[in-house]
Amino acid sequence: MTTTPIRPQLTQTQLLLELEQVVEGELDRHIAVAKEWFPHEYIPYSDGRTFDGLLGGEAWSPEDSKISDVGKSALVINLLTEDNLPSYHHEIAVLFGRDAAWGDWVHRWTAEEGRHGIALRDYLTVTRAVDPVELERLRMMHISAGYISAHSQDLLRSLAYVSFQELATRVSHRNTGKFVNEPIADQLLTRISADENLHMIFYRNLLGAALQIAPDQTMRAITEVVKGFEMPGAGIPGFQRKAVEMAIAGIYDLRLHLSDVVWPVLRFWKVFELEGLSAEGEIARRELADFLTELEQSAARFDQRREALRARLLARG
Ligand SMILES: [Fe+2]
Ligand SMILES: [Fe+2]
Repeated sequence: MTTTPIRPQLTQTQLLLELEQVVEGELDRHIAVAKEWFPHEYIPYSDGRTFDGLLGGEAWSPEDSKISDVGKSALVINLLTEDNLPSYHHEIAVLFGRDAAWGDWVHRWTAEEGRHGIALRDYLTVTRAVDPVELERLRMMHISAGYISAHSQDLLRSLAYVSFQELATRVSHRNTGKFVNEPIADQLLTRISADENLHMIFYRNLLGAALQIAPDQTMRAITEVVKGFEMPGAGIPGFQRKAVEMAIAGIYDLRLHLSDVVWPVLRFWKVFELEGLSAEGEIARRELADFLTELEQSAARFDQRREALRARLLARG
């Protein structure tokens, strides 16, 4: 047990200033490794047909697409999550500010995320993968509701949240691509998930630096975020039902959340090896360890229930 005394909390402004140099370095690194790509190259335009309505084409019908209902649900969730960019932009622009390196990151990130929604919508519309009327109505409802982060006022919690969230989004896109079994969709979602991975790395490195600057405060932030984690699309109408379908399909479930999202980031930060925490930091770390044990048990229970469900479905043929 460490004897490090309890440290005074850094204010939001102090944290922003302390991390400014790191943001600058990470932004340069990000721009050097990010690959330029073009949405239009991923869209099979010659497969498209005019829709009904103004231009008198053919209405959408479920038979237009070979993608399964679960695959359609996953694509819609992934796109609507990207669509809520105006709210996400607002959240980080207010918190990080729009000046200097922080502002450059806010704008660059927003531009990259905008590409994801454009590419996915074009793909889904041209290939008639999902009902365009339902999609637009869902988009209106979802974006009209707005998104307010649970960590709006707190830089460290926001950085911890986006570290996990970008990786969660990567896993969701990647596994949706594999699940829908359409080569172009898979390529597009692989391309998008590569961007999400770079976003994760940016935030993860930033929070790694924060762990050095304010270890106890950052440890508390990590614990709170892991304990309360919710996907950014949780407010989409019908999200819970679609999320269950996606979990049963293995696109995004508790096991993947733990093994492919939470643990890789925690391991990178070396949260359980970190030395020099004060009593407060140690309490937060123990709370995190206890929570991870509970999460592991929940994941095991879910795995069992899903196995049983699959066995029943198989028996029914
Ligand atoms: Fe994205
Ligand atoms: Fe992202």
